[in-house]
Amino acid sequence: MKVLFLGDVVGPLGRKAVKKYLGTYKEKLGIDFVIANGENATHGHGLSVEHYKELKNSGVDCVTNGNHFFNCKEPFSSPESYTDSIRPYNLDKDVPLSGTKVFVTSNGIKIRVTNLLGRVFIPMTQTNPFYDLDTIIKEDKEKIIHIVDFHAEATAEKRCLAEYADGRITALIGTHTHVQTNDPKLLNKGTFFLTDSGMNGAYDSVLGDEKDGSIKRTLSGMPANLVVPRAGKMQANGVIMDIDEKTTRVVSFSLVNQTMEDDR
Ligand SMILES: [Fe+2]
Ligand SMILES: [Fe+2]
Repeated sequence: MKVLFLGDVVGPLGRKAVKKYLGTYKEKLGIDFVIANGENATHGHGLSVEHYKELKNSGVDCVTNGNHFFNCKEPFSSPESYTDSIRPYNLDKDVPLSGTKVFVTSNGIKIRVTNLLGRVFIPMTQTNPFYDLDTIIKEDKEKIIHIVDFHAEATAEKRCLAEYADGRITALIGTHTHVQTNDPKLLNKGTFFLTDSGMNGAYDSVLGDEKDGSIKRTLSGMPANLVVPRAGKMQANGVIMDIDEKTTRVVSFSLVNQTMEDDR
């Protein structure tokens, strides 16, 4: 089966890029299941019910999250609306939504998606993602496809968790840094690894935000209003994995790094 993993979706252009990419390629490339990180889908911070549904309607099957999960309050007021969305597992047990979920495709194939948050350079109250991943892996009594979205800042932490889980999960793909890395690979025991899947959103931007605010904030060290562009060239970033359902291993892969015009 073919699984497409899309990196962080940022603002309206990110949602449009996902819609356009999936509308053009999902059927054409025979993609069976789509995962997208939605932590920046709503104005760059958080994921509203409306925008969760928009991503679902565009063809995304599972929406993961990250450190911006708390920016939008709707997951707290209407958690039942986020049926196919997960948030980082290693947050407090009282945080709404779950951190891992088993999906069943139309062909009856089971696929577990897990969302974990890194601890290096992300000051939140997350628990140890290594031990938490051990716990999640033990939940499956049968061998099933298991894709992990590791939302983390430090490249070494991402590689370490992938190596730690090598041979025990299908793939570990990084999100959060919004810049796609050119290091997709199969590790020694068969787990697929990519340090960062990149960003879906405005091409002419700083990580999906308008450049002026980002420059001002970085240059001065003072808070600045970060605004997401609403028009302009878009980019779609992610990775397509061809997975053998029997072995649950990735047999081939290709990065998605495409620019598209916003033809609204
Ligand atoms: Fe992000
Ligand atoms: Fe993030």
